[in-house]
Amino acid sequence: MAKKPTVVRVCQDCSCMENGAEAVLKKIEDETGLALGEKNKNFDLDYSACLGGCDFGPNMLVNSNFVMGATPDNVMDKIEKAAETKPLTQKEKEANLDKLLED
Ligand code: FES
Repeated sequence: MAKKPTVVRVCQDCSCMENGAEAVLKKIEDETGLALGEKNKNFDLDYSACLGGCDFGPNMLVNSNFVMGATPDNVMDKIEKAAETKPLTQKEKEANLDKLLED
């Protein structure tokens, strides 16, 4: 069975754009050879509306995993790590957010 492409959705809403989402997207496009809305055998790249984590952006969804704090320097590592990670349950996501807000 063929491996499914890694689904990457980069938030293109206001807060993430103000915090560098455009540069993050450019890095992904350069690394994958894709433009927004395109896919190949390895990646499926598109935009996302606000993911609800505006204070921690630029943010992405990678195979349903919420990824925060992307930069051009770390984004490909974050995508690789998230692609290898089983998506969290809703309860796990809420626990992580609670912990993040405590710090
Ligand atoms: S603007 Fe990107 S998560 Fe809200």
